[in-house]
Amino acid sequence: MDIEVGEVRQIMDWLSSISDDTGPGTTRLLYSPSWLKAQQELKAKFELLGMECRFDAVGNLFGTLVGSKSPERKIATGSHVDTVVRGGKLDGQLGIFGGYLAVKKLLETYGRPKKSLEIISMAEEEGSRFPYVFWGSKNIFGLAKKEDVEALKDGQGVGFVEAMRSCGFDFGDGRARTDIEAFVELHIEQGNFLEEENYTVGVVSSIVGQKRYNITLKGEANHAGTTLMRYRKDTVECMSRIITHCLDKAKAAGDPLVLTFGKVVPKPNTVNVVPGETLFTMDCRHTNAAFLQDFTALLEADMRDIAAKGGIGIEIDNWMNEKPVAMDSKIVGFIECVCQDRKLNYKVMHSGAGHDSQIFAPRVPTGMIFVPSIRGVSHNPAEDTKVEDLCVGIKALAYTLHELAY
Ligand code: HGY
Ligand code: MN
Ligand code: MN
Repeated sequence: MDIEVGEVRQIMDWLSSISDDTGPGTTRLLYSPSWLKAQQELKAKFELLGMECRFDAVGNLFGTLVGSKSPERKIATGSHVDTVVRGGKLDGQLGIFGGYLAVKKLLETYGRPKKSLEIISMAEEEGSRFPYVFWGSKNIFGLAKKEDVEALKDGQGVGFVEAMRSCGFDFGDGRARTDIEAFVELHIEQGNFLEEENYTVGVVSSIVGQKRYNITLKGEANHAGTTLMRYRKDTVECMSRIITHCLDKAKAAGDPLVLTFGKVVPKPNTVNVVPGETLFTMDCRHTNAAFLQDFTALLEADMRDIAAKGGIGIEIDNWMNEKPVAMDSKIVGFIECVCQDRKLNYKVMHSGAGHDSQIFAPRVPTGMIFVPSIRGVSHNPAEDTKVEDLCVGIKALAYTLHELAY
């Protein structure tokens, strides 16, 4: 079974062109116009392949190639259709268009599978528009609660519920799906291990734990010219002391701990005003749950000390706390056998990025296949993978789905 380079390029360029921003990269945030367009056009494409399609209440898209012998048994693949702001053309999208090409190739080569093959275009994973992650996959398993999101607003003040209903979707009934027998997600590595060590395929054994925070510092807005330094309650100064201290601690802790302060919102964000309030985010990850918990507890205590010394108020909101998750050893074994049989040059590795698979894995036998990221760059318009490596990854997915569904 070979996957054609031309076909991969064409579908990748098509899907990644559906964006809300004329700027570089793809911007397709949950419940935005481009998000709705992508879900609707993917549905049309899946239907052309002869798949039965449906949306669930919140907007997850399911395309099913009904099995010939036991159609009620579902082997699923897929990933998230949403992106970060000005993201790349592969994060999430590869798992959807790669799943489509794999199922298409299997249908052309072997005909209808015995069990049903399902492609899931998950509504949201990134947490880029609203401070909530895995909205798509958590709804598939009844884990998302109304009260988690009904008060959330995006950066423009648009409410979560308002945005969801504007696309014709609404809260689900909270029931979990129990008919998915296995889930295999194809995704870019988003790091540089595979490229550095010259591997073509990554077989994921586990996904890191991660904690995300919104931290708000409350000082006093004041005049930049008349307020002497000793009278200031400058929240940007306090934030910079906190961030420098925490990053030094993270570097001292060593790999695989990572710490990111990705978003900073000083107020009133004006050249001649001492910033009276600053919101900033923290994202901390590690493969070991206990280490992650202890390390972030220490950072929270240090933040409070630094703020107190500066006479600055601090609010720490830990809005995401996902433990590390192991992939299913049988599925990992299946993928390894496929790589060995097809002489694919693979490495078993953990994932430093979070994925929908970490929501599936505790509930469904789950595995992940990585393809290399050029220079390890991701969440960036320059995110890219050699198209030949994309073809190998899609082939590895196709053969794994063949093992599971035919
Ligand atoms: O942030 C992550 O790990 C993923 O790309 N959402
Ligand atoms: Mn991402
Ligand atoms: Mn992703």
